[in-house]
Amino acid sequence: MIDDMLDPAKLPKHVAIIMDGNGRWAKKRALNRIRGHEEGAESVRAIVRASREIGIRWLTLYAFSEENWKRPKYEVEALMRLLKRFMVSERAEMLENGIRFQVIGRVRKLPGDVQQTLRDTVDKTSHNRGMVLTLALSYGGRQELADAVAEIAHGIESGALRSGEISEELISRHLYAADMPDPDLLIRTGGEYRVSNFLLWQIAYTEIYTTPTQWPDFRKEEYEKALEEYQKRERRFGAVGGE
Ligand code: FPP
Repeated sequence: MIDDMLDPAKLPKHVAIIMDGNGRWAKKRALNRIRGHEEGAESVRAIVRASREIGIRWLTLYAFSEENWKRPKYEVEALMRLLKRFMVSERAEMLENGIRFQVIGRVRKLPGDVQQTLRDTVDKTSHNRGMVLTLALSYGGRQELADAVAEIAHGIESGALRSGEISEELISRHLYAADMPDPDLLIRTGGEYRVSNFLLWQIAYTEIYTTPTQWPDFRKEEYEKALEEYQKRERRFGAVGGE
């Protein structure tokens, strides 16, 4: 059942989410942090499903940042295990619902078996056209820009590019997912007001919505609230608005 408060004509095309608060959710319940991540994975499932039902075309989730490598080894390993499990358990639903899966980030840093599972899902879903689910893994916005600059510089060195050709469009085309539109809405759960190195280039004009709700409690109803709030905003992209 889709929220009848939502105007299908004014839906964001691309929603990006910083999923924060798994640890605090667990701590409040005297559980270990891993339980928080497990429950967080349930929210991922719920939000992917809700996005498809509502008609969101692009959903991007910040699942593991470059900075997350600094967490204790057991926590990193648990997150990798969860990710692998999620890939396997959700693959059938992605295929059924026409979801194309892709990854952004320095994926080569992930364990080999995780990379393989990701690659399988990317390949098997590559023909789907209903929605694009992007997971940001070993991702950092500054690293993405550094990687884009390195690629462009390489193009100039090899003679394939001239420095005069550098433009915003050219830079966008050298990001991890060249065909991904900029997000219209960025949601951050867990009550913090930070961008945390997420999609730095892409969020120049993105509407930001934050909620104190911890990620494991962020399910369809909370999501619809964020979308309703987005629909109330007037987006001007730097221009003057109407009356
Ligand atoms: C933030 O919570 C969340 C993460 C570091 C990673 C997000 C991971 C998941 C939602 C689970 C698995 C993902 C998939 C795609 C299956 P936190 O640990 O920073 O929370 P805290 O700030 O309360 O400590």
